[in-house]
Order: sequence, then C-alpha cells, then structure tokens
Amino acid sequence: MNPAIDLLLTRRSVPPRLMIAPAPTVAEVETMLTIATRVPDHGRAVPWRFIVIGPEGGTKLGELIAATYQSDHPDATAATIETERSRLVRAPLVIAVVSHTHPHPKAPEWEQILSAGAAAMNLVLAANALGYCANWHTEWYAYDRRVTSELGLDDTERVAGFVHIGTPVEQPLERPRPSLSDVVVRYGSTGVSPYAGGGDK
Ligand SMILES: Cc1cc2nc3c(=O)[nH]c(=O)nc-3n(C[C@H](O)[C@H](O)[C@H](O)COP(=O)(O)O)c2cc1C
Repeated sequence: MNPAIDLLLTRRSVPPRLMIAPAPTVAEVETMLTIATRVPDHGRAVPWRFIVIGPEGGTKLGELIAATYQSDHPDATAATIETERSRLVRAPLVIAVVSHTHPHPKAPEWEQILSAGAAAMNLVLAANALGYCANWHTEWYAYDRRVTSELGLDDTERVAGFVHIGTPVEQPLERPRPSLSDVVVRYGSTGVSPYAGGGDK
C-alpha cells in the first residue's frame, strides 16, 4: 500500500509512560516543526507557535506543576505529587503547540484556533512518519495560568496541546473507531456512489 495512506490508516497514539529514548535528533525536530507550520492558515495569520521542552525544561516545569497541584490539593498523597512532577519527563521530548490568535482582516478567531489544531496534528503525523510515537495531551496544567505564564504565554494565548514524542516500548493495540455511517451523510446527491457520485474505480 501507499506508505502515507498506510501511516494514516494505522496511526495510534502511545501513552507517554510507554515512551522511551531515543528522542528525535535536532534535525528531525526541525523537520517536524517545519511540517507543523505547513498547515492551512487563512490569510497567513500564523496563529500558532511552538515551545520545545526537553528533559531539562520538563524537569523544571514539573516542579511548578507539582507545586501548583499541591497548593490546590493540600491533601494529595506524595505519590500523586510525584506523578504530577513527572508529567513532562515521561516522554523524551514534549513540544507545546500554542494557539496564538489575534485580530486579522480575513481569519476569524475560530479559524485561527482550527489552524493551531491542524499544526498539532501535523506535528503528531510528522513524528510518526519519522518513526517515532506521539501523543497529543492537554491535561489540567494546559489550562492553568500559573503554568502557562511560566511558559511565556500571554493572556491571549492558549496551549493547544503538549505533543509528547518518543520511541514506543511496544506497539499500541487498535482501538474502536466510529463507523463512517454514524458520522457521514450524503447531501444533495442521488448518485450510485455513496460519496461524490463518481462510482468505484
Ligand atoms: C485537544 C486534545 C487534547 C487531548 N488531551 C488529552 C489528555 O490530556 N490526556 C489524554 O489521555 N488524552 C488526550 N487526548 C487524546 C489523545 O491525544 C489520543 O487521541 C487518544 O489517546 C486516542 O488515541 P489515538 O490518537 O490513537 O486515537 C487529547 C486529544 C486532543 C485532540
């Protein structure tokens, strides 16, 4: 089969706790980021940016995540706090995709947000295409201003996702997907083909 189609048909996320080294090389990270910026973007608004978080940054931010969690949950167990501390060092590499919307003559905010989602998905696919596994997470700290301020986000910016990237310990199992008949309808066509009316090739 066409390798690109094969990748798209079989892609699965891997939990960060099942990711190990090797991490992508510097050149591979540049390739991934280049692909992440190659997304539909109405009016060239460039409504996204990226923050690369390696082990050092993940350790530093993990301290803040743990402290923030502890201050909000004074009864949390030591084990839970440790889990929070490890959030961004489970995978060898994390890239935060930041939605950076701004007034634009052509692109409404909604379209700018969608473009950030496309950038995150392209990042996931680029990692997969280079042979790595990936997982798009947000978790509570993506929405916590104390954490996002530390990452340098301003009040207009939001974390679209923390994309975790690494090498899988094991290949993930398939999970159920919605049936096309549950999510696709045909509008305005009575052709034989269920889709464009072109018939089967
Ligand atoms: C915006 C967004 C945020 C997500 N955040 C989380 C998360 O915080 N934790 C989580 O376990 N999965 C999260 N997911 C789901 C995973 O990315 C992934 O889709 C899921 O594990 C299913 O795996 P699949 O990609 O193989 O279908 C999120 C997905 C999206 C689109």
